[in-house]
Amino acid sequence: MKKTWWKEAVVYQIYPRSFNDSNGDGIGDLNGVTEKLDYLDELGINIIWICPMYKSPNVDNGYDISDYQAIMEEMGTMEDFERLLEEVHKRGMRLIIDLVINHTSDQHPWFVESRSSKDSTKRDWYVWRDQQTNWECIFGGPAWTFDPKSNQYYLHIFTKNQVDLNWENEDMRKAVYEMIRWWLDKGVDGFRVDAINHIKKEYSDMPNPKNLPYVPAWEKFTEVEGLQEMLAELKEKAFSGYDIVTVGEANSVKSHDMEQWISEHEGKFNMIFHREALEAASDEVNGGLDVEDLREVLDRWQKAAHGVAWNSLYLENHDRPRTVSIWGNDRDYWFESATALGCMYFFMQGTPFIYQGQEIGMTNAPFDDIDMYNDIETKNMYRYNRKEGVPHEDLMKIIKTISRDHARTPMQWNSRKYGGFSTAEPWLAVNPNYKWLNVEAQKDDPKSIWSYYKKMIHLRQNWDVLVYGTTNLTDSGCPDVYAYVREDRYTKMLIASNLSERPCTWNTPYDAELLLTNYEKRVKGVLQPYEACIYFMKKEIYG
Ligand code: GLC
Ligand code: CA
Repeated sequence: MKKTWWKEAVVYQIYPRSFNDSNGDGIGDLNGVTEKLDYLDELGINIIWICPMYKSPNVDNGYDISDYQAIMEEMGTMEDFERLLEEVHKRGMRLIIDLVINHTSDQHPWFVESRSSKDSTKRDWYVWRDQQTNWECIFGGPAWTFDPKSNQYYLHIFTKNQVDLNWENEDMRKAVYEMIRWWLDKGVDGFRVDAINHIKKEYSDMPNPKNLPYVPAWEKFTEVEGLQEMLAELKEKAFSGYDIVTVGEANSVKSHDMEQWISEHEGKFNMIFHREALEAASDEVNGGLDVEDLREVLDRWQKAAHGVAWNSLYLENHDRPRTVSIWGNDRDYWFESATALGCMYFFMQGTPFIYQGQEIGMTNAPFDDIDMYNDIETKNMYRYNRKEGVPHEDLMKIIKTISRDHARTPMQWNSRKYGGFSTAEPWLAVNPNYKWLNVEAQKDDPKSIWSYYKKMIHLRQNWDVLVYGTTNLTDSGCPDVYAYVREDRYTKMLIASNLSERPCTWNTPYDAELLLTNYEKRVKGVLQPYEACIYFMKKEIYG
C-alpha cells in the first residue's frame, strides 16, 4: 500500500464546546483548543479533528450551520481559528474540520431566501413538496415541516431546524464546492464529512402496514442509487488537487461495499466511519460487549481493506456513550478495561482516532434527571416516547446508557471546580468523578490510562509493521480474548486483549518479548481480567 502521512497518523477528536473554556463563559472555544495544543503534542497526536465551530444557532451543537464561512460567536473569531491552524502547523500537526453538507440550519441565508417564496432563485436549493412522504426523521417526529407562508413542505431528516440541501441542484452544489475550496485555500488539512451517505434521496412513501403516523425511512435517504456519482463529483470538484485527508461519516456502509467508498482506485474518501462493528457488538440498552461479534465484523473489514483500502479505527466519538462504561467495567476494572479496549483497536490496519477524554478513561455521566441532559436527540427521543405512553423510568434507563451527552460532558483537566474546564458553570454538568478522574492525576503517573495511551501511540509511530503490516486473527482459545498478529517482512507483533472479567488460560508465545502490558504483576499461563499485551516476536523463528 502506498505510504502516506495520514496512514501513519494518530487522530484526536475535539468536541470544542466541551474541551476547554478560555474566557470563562462556561463554553469551550477555539482559544481553549489552542491553549491545549502542547498537551496534545505531548500525547503524540498528529492530526486534530475539530467538530463544527461554524456560525450556528446550536440546535444540534453546531451541526446546524447558518454560515459556512464564519465562526460561531461562542467559539471565537476567524482570527482565532487562523491562529489555531497556525499553531497546529507550527507543532507539526494537522487540523481537519467537520464538513456538514447534507443540511444547513434553517437560519442559513440560503434557506431564508429559499423559503421566502416559491419563485425564489434558491427555492430548489432545498427540497420543497406539495405533498409530504410518510417518513420519520432520524431524531424523531415527521421528516417534513409545512411552511404556511409558501404553502409547501420542506425536508429535514435530522431535526426541523436542519434543512436538507437538494443535491440534485447544480447551483447549490457549485456553491458548496466553492465553500470547501475556500477552507482548503486557508490551509486546513482535510475534512470529516458529516452524514454523507444521506445526500441522495428517493422520494416515495415507505410501506406502512401498521398505519404509523410516520415510518422510519432509512432506506429512502441512505446509500440511495446514484449516490456514488454525486460523491465522485464532490471528490473531483471540491477535494482534488490538495494534499488532504477526507473521512466520510457513512454509518450504514458494510464491508462488501468498501471499494466504491474508500478503495485507492475508485474510492471517494480516504476513510469512512462505519458503525457495523459497534452495532453488532453492543447491547444498546443493557450495555455489554459481544467479543465474538466484534471480532467477526472487524476482521471482515480488516480483510476487505487489505491491499485495497484504509480503515478508520475508533471506539468513541461525540455521538456515542463512553466505551469503558458500556463495553468495559468503569467500577471494578476501570483502568484495566479502558486500556484493554484501547489496546484491542489501536494496532489494527487503519488510522486510530481517539475521542477527547478517552485517553483518561472518562465514563458515562450518572445524570438521573432528564433536565440534566442537553442533546436534542436525547430530548426528542424522551418527548416522543413519553407522548406514546412509554414510562419515564424505562426511558431514563435507556438514556443513562446511550445518550450522546455521556461523551459531551466537559473534559476533566484537574480536580479544581468544574474539572478545570471553566471558571464558570459549564453548559453541561461536569461528571462528578472529575475529582479523581482527570488529566492532572494521570499525566505524571506511569501507570495511568493516559500513560498507556501515550505508549501505544509511541509504539505505533515507531513500528512500521503496526501501520503497514498484514493483520490476522489468532486463536487464543478464549472467546473473550481479542488476539491478532501484525506482520511484515522483518517483524511480527502479537496483540492480545482479554475483554472480560474471566481469566483466560494463555501461554506466552515462545521467545516473545513483551513490549507493553496493563498488568504490573503478570501470572504465568494466564491472561487476567482485562489484561492486554503486545509482544514482539522474532521473525527468524516464526517467519
Ligand atoms: C452526524 C453527527 C451528529 C449530528 C448529525 C447531524 O451524525 O456526528 O452529531 O447530530 O450528523 O448533523
Ligand atoms: Ca468560552
